Amino acid sequence: MVRVLFVCLGNICRSPMAEAVFRKQVEEAGLKDQISIDSAGTGHWHIGKPPHEGTRSLLDRYDVDYAGLKARQVKEEDVTRFDYILAMDADNLSQLHALAGRQTTGEIARLLDFVPDSNVADVPDPYFTGNFDEVYELVNEACSRLLTYICDREQL
Ligand code: 4NP
Repeated sequence: MVRVLFVCLGNICRSPMAEAVFRKQVEEAGLKDQISIDSAGTGHWHIGKPPHEGTRSLLDRYDVDYAGLKARQVKEEDVTRFDYILAMDADNLSQLHALAGRQTTGEIARLLDFVPDSNVADVPDPYFTGNFDEVYELVNEACSRLLTYICDREQL
């Protein structure tokens, strides 16, 4: 089983969107028994909460299932338990590296590293911008490229 974790700040806007979108892509590729998917936030404020209503309404619009998603905080063991850990922005990335310390970890990267032709490196935070559509476009493209990358590397 290949384990994939998406990380943002609150785990209510961007990373649950990435989790739900990537799960749909993985299911459509017939790989749901081979790739497991989760998300977490570096912050603790929204632990136990469902995704933000902006993320929910967008996922509803694109017919992406998010039932049962609840925010949780990233923990140290995540960096060794997951094979691919995708940060939404540079701040999340540095928090993950700090949590990892000198341990051997899964591959830690920014999600938009998988879209080298993107003109942004960080997924903008819609909690502050209000622009959930922009996040969906970026996350959808990056997740599909991530899936191709994982399939190549893991020979799925
Ligand atoms: P997210 O957005 O990291 O994409 O889930 C945020 C959600 C909540 C907060 C910040 C960002 N907050 O400060 O509560």
